[in-house]
Amino acid sequence: MTFSISAPICARISARALLLPGLALAALLIAANPHPAAAQAASSSSQNQGASQSAAPTDPERPYIVKDGRVDFHTFNGYRRYGDNCLRCHGPDGAGSSYAPDLTDSLKHMTKEQFEETVINGRKNVTTATENVMPAFGTVPDVVENLDDIYAYLKARSDGVLGRGRPKRLDGED
Ligand code: HEC
Repeated sequence: MTFSISAPICARISARALLLPGLALAALLIAANPHPAAAQAASSSSQNQGASQSAAPTDPERPYIVKDGRVDFHTFNGYRRYGDNCLRCHGPDGAGSSYAPDLTDSLKHMTKEQFEETVINGRKNVTTATENVMPAFGTVPDVVENLDDIYAYLKARSDGVLGRGRPKRLDGED
């Protein structure tokens, strides 16, 4: 009689006795490595650092990274998009032509908003005898989607931190 009652109790106690140290062990393991996922992410991102694009600049006044004449990916992309869309009028390196103004000079006076407004909506100079037209690029995806990068490139040129010609890339993918 006593035997048949004590057997399930005994089983329950021993199950708990096994469970408790098990939980304690799991807690210990978690405490030893509080953020296993974060630690893994950190180590894999540091492994990829060499191959990934260079970090984006954070200072709005200096929207580019230039080190030893090498530029971050965005500034380089801006250089290329400038070449495809703006160079034919504004000349190589943003330096202006007989037709369109020197943008390295313009950006010393213009805000980023004014720059964007001019590029998106275009402008027509009606004060001179010749009609020089800045086309509206608001419907040109290659310009609209890369306008931050084009601005970054021209701003680096305007600030005098980037020379003429094709810049080299900080990530080494020249
Ligand atoms: C078809 C020729 C042409 C192309 C292409 C062109 N521009 Fe212009 N841009 C002009 C002309 C001309 C002006 C001057 C208009 C005026 O004085 O009203 C101008 C003016 C500007 C201005 C104002 C400058 C200032 O000092 O006020 C900015 C900024 C500008 N362009 C940026 C760009 C960018 C960026 C691109 C390429 C995405 C580009 N332009 C492509 C002809 C062009």
